[in-house]
Amino acid sequence: MAAQDVPAVERLTGEGFHELDVRTNPRDWPEPTPRSEAKAEAWRRRMAHILRHDGGGCWVAEDESGLIGVAAAMRRDLVWILATFVVRPGLQGRGVGRVLLDAALSYGTGCLRGMLAASGDPKAARRYRLAGFTLHPWMVLTGPVARDRLPVVERVREGSTGDVDLLNSVDRQVRGAAHGVDHEILTSAYRLVVADRTTGSGYAYVEPHGGPYLLAATNRRTAADLLWEALAASTSEAPCSISHVSATNEWAIDVGMTAGMSLYTSGYLALRHMKPPMPYLPSGYFL
Ligand SMILES: CC(C)(COP(=O)(O)OP(=O)(O)OC[C@H]1O[C@@H](n2cnc3c(N)ncnc32)[C@H](O)[C@@H]1OP(=O)(O)O)[C@@H](O)C(=O)NCCC(=O)NCCS
Repeated sequence: MAAQDVPAVERLTGEGFHELDVRTNPRDWPEPTPRSEAKAEAWRRRMAHILRHDGGGCWVAEDESGLIGVAAAMRRDLVWILATFVVRPGLQGRGVGRVLLDAALSYGTGCLRGMLAASGDPKAARRYRLAGFTLHPWMVLTGPVARDRLPVVERVREGSTGDVDLLNSVDRQVRGAAHGVDHEILTSAYRLVVADRTTGSGYAYVEPHGGPYLLAATNRRTAADLLWEALAASTSEAPCSISHVSATNEWAIDVGMTAGMSLYTSGYLALRHMKPPMPYLPSGYFL
């Protein structure tokens, strides 16, 4: 992948994931909408960031019609992480994905562990399992948050770039690898809340309409407080979500259920040589 490919890569992933959302949308969820221009711009920034730091992990496939597939992977400490993987709808299931994933995996040579957020597409699950990943089903809680059930959360404060050492230290304890340079782009794109207590520490990046984008903590109590803080940022009109909840993170299911949200299944956490991190709600992109 070259820097000039990023806009076409964004369009391809937008198209591929929208087609997947339409194909797999649970019947009582709102109709999926195409990626907005604001989200597309954020997506291009993230892709350019990965390409800058992990050029060797970013691959595209093309034919005479142009770009038809992309796989982008990064290395953080000794963990290989797949950020995105899509083949153009209509051209899927013909082996393009296998070649792309093999190229992205080769960037992980020397990495002990690997992780990625797998969609519910059976073709993706097949590729990842054949590449040796263990698939841990994921849950998602969604719906409006019952505001009258929000607890008073103490000793959680707004975070800033000055907290990056703390964030990296929590990352290493929870998932065995710091997010490192990813905190630069995350702190510029999301509100950050931090808990730094003698009893435990952690942080959460909060979605603009509430709910966690990424949350990590050294114990469940701290994680639950941070999750409540992220849910408190939602409004009663707009539903928000707690995504990427593995069975080991039952504390998050308990918070979401107390908040009156509905539980569904959604995709997999795919891991190599590691157990599902806990307490941890990964982002789909930076994990
Ligand atoms: C996941 C994805 C990138 C894989 O790319 P691809 O080109 O379709 O992958 P491949 O053709 O190399 O491999 C697909 C495998 O699934 C098999 N397959 C095809 N249709 C299938 C189906 N309906 N159910 C199960 N397996 C299927 C293929 O035979 C192939 O297996 P094989 O190599 O053993 O023959 C692509 O399907 C895609 O973009 N899906 C939508 C977006 C998505 O889910 N991305 C992954 C995000 S984590």
